[in-house]
Amino acid sequence: MQNPSEVSWQFIKEACYRMKNVQSTVTLSNGEQMPWLGLGVFKMSDGQEVINCVETAIQNGYRSIDTASLYDNEEGVGQAIKSSAVPREQLYITTKIWNSDQGYESTLKAFDRSMNKLGLDYLDLYLIHWPVKGKYKETWKALEKLHRDGRVRSIGVSNFQIHHLQDLLEDAEIKPVVNQVELHPLLSQVELREYCKSEGIQIEAWSPLAQGQLLDNEVLKAIGAKYGKSTAQVIIRWDLQNEIVTIPKSAKEHRIIDNANVFDFELTSEEMEQINELNQNKRIGPDPDNFDF
Ligand SMILES: NC(=O)c1ccc[n+]([C@@H]2O[C@H](COP(=O)([O-])OP(=O)(O)OC[C@H]3O[C@@H](n4cnc5c(N)ncnc54)[C@H](OP(=O)(O)O)[C@@H]3O)[C@@H](O)[C@H]2O)c1
Repeated sequence: MQNPSEVSWQFIKEACYRMKNVQSTVTLSNGEQMPWLGLGVFKMSDGQEVINCVETAIQNGYRSIDTASLYDNEEGVGQAIKSSAVPREQLYITTKIWNSDQGYESTLKAFDRSMNKLGLDYLDLYLIHWPVKGKYKETWKALEKLHRDGRVRSIGVSNFQIHHLQDLLEDAEIKPVVNQVELHPLLSQVELREYCKSEGIQIEAWSPLAQGQLLDNEVLKAIGAKYGKSTAQVIIRWDLQNEIVTIPKSAKEHRIIDNANVFDFELTSEEMEQINELNQNKRIGPDPDNFDF
């Protein structure tokens, strides 16, 4: 008879065996497939920079791109999708409703603006970017309509804490399928991950590389040296073995390629534990309970 921790480790190992490459997907609670690994495009300028990066990513196997109306580069993302040889239905495109557009009617309008910029006739995932007090429930109603109308395959949230999710779930007719939050070894979000798992909400990590702050970490460097991998690759692998969808951003071709080259090694349970121990509950981004934008 296996003890419970052996059972859960076995379960995680089986999930990892299903992750063969950058195109491997997780089945969300609504049955849709979402790639485990995607390219984040925050801080890439619209036009040639974002076009080049998205094209490079797609040519190197990526299928998932994470943008937002706030990033002001949806047009470039759309152009790269259009010029790509990969059919639209094989791509997975996420965008987000910005805070100042929240509310029922304003969300529907903002969605149309995003879709015009992206040049798409359906979206894969639409997220509420931040839990704006007094607004996110109305906003969610609009997302439910967009989903029912067939314009968005999946709807979800971002930067929601457990109490935001509990509040939303009281009235929601459709459950969010994804919660995209700041998550990296300095902020491992164990409690939120467990809550989301219990509700069938897939966790997705933003700033998985802590925007570069972890790249000189000695523990990660030592683990990487053993496998001939960079610290960034070790962190991305840690995400995957924790069944966390991850969207590292790079505007450099060799890093876009390297960040997806994480399917040919496996961290041991001891190494996973060493990385877990780096947690300091330290945010590099804003606190979802205390933001003013
Ligand atoms: N929902 C939200 O509120 C929210 C907030 C923030 C971010 N996001 C999403 O999450 C994505 C990722 O987060 P992020 O962009 O904040 O940060 P990140 O992915 O943690 O880190 C990006 C930084 O790491 C560098 N980098 C990437 N790969 C590297 C490698 N292999 N070796 C060394 N350095 C590397 C990049 O530089 P180069 O570009 O020069 O390679 C960049 O400076 C965003 O792009 C966005 O899509 C969402």
